[in-house]
Amino acid sequence: MSALLEVSKLNKHFGGLHAVKNVSFSVQPGEIVGILGPNGAGKTTLYNLLTGFIAPDPGAAVVFEGRSLLGEAPHRIARRGISRTFQLCRPFIGMSVLENVIVGALGAKRGQGADLDAHALALLERVGLNGKADVPVEVLSYGDQRRLEIARALAARPALLLLDEPFAGLGSGEIEDLSTLIRQVHADEGLTVLLIEHKLREFMRLVDRVIALDFGEIIAQGTPEEIVRHPAVIEAYIGRSAPAEGDEHAA
Ligand SMILES: Nc1ncnc2c1ncn2[C@@H]1O[C@H](COP(=O)(O)OP(=O)(O)OP(=O)(O)O)[C@@H](O)[C@H]1O
Ligand SMILES: [Mg+2]
Repeated sequence: MSALLEVSKLNKHFGGLHAVKNVSFSVQPGEIVGILGPNGAGKTTLYNLLTGFIAPDPGAAVVFEGRSLLGEAPHRIARRGISRTFQLCRPFIGMSVLENVIVGALGAKRGQGADLDAHALALLERVGLNGKADVPVEVLSYGDQRRLEIARALAARPALLLLDEPFAGLGSGEIEDLSTLIRQVHADEGLTVLLIEHKLREFMRLVDRVIALDFGEIIAQGTPEEIVRHPAVIEAYIGRSAPAEGDEHAA
């Protein structure tokens, strides 16, 4: 099977800081891959590179469905089938919940046209926001904002969904619900998912495979079972003041 996403020799310097260092990996269609690493490891920067928000240093290759993504603007990458959520929710203020999801669908490569409203409403139902379609986003609770963020990302009918700490700030019941939702869209639509998350218990249950980063570099790759026993991962997490389970990381 050919990879959905193939990344090689990805580097990013911010001045003297080597935030992403020689990162190479591939993702197969239908996988749920976890990106693990302490604060500042370069996880969000990796997403920013993959989605065209920032450009990598020269020498990288990023190939999605057999074609390079390098040099493409974020909206073009979204149209190619990659959606993301943000570590901090970014709803469009001044619009309703439904309008926020519809905006997410604009520019999708599939599913434009008259079914836009119906599709957006179906997504709201799916994430448990069906009663709140006409509510202004400003009044949503934090948990509901996180659900909306996922509905908005799914509205573009992506092939690859990048989630950046979707459980941050949520209670355990809400985390369970959101995990179930991620599993369902993965199963129903064959969606491929990359997941960054510090809530390790749920993270390890959800992912097929983990890529562990530290100081911008891949220090380990493997199944959740392999990763929790991996000496370099233990050193990165426990050798320093590790984030506790349940830590918010609202950075
Ligand atoms: N635009 C930027 N300009 C300068 N430095 C940046 C920029 N974005 C990120 N960095 C730095 O790059 C490093 C990696 O940051 P990044 O946000 O990718 O970490 P992270 O793994 O997502 O951490 P967290 O778990 O806290 O979200 C950090 O040292 C950060 O301060
Ligand atoms: Mg981050």
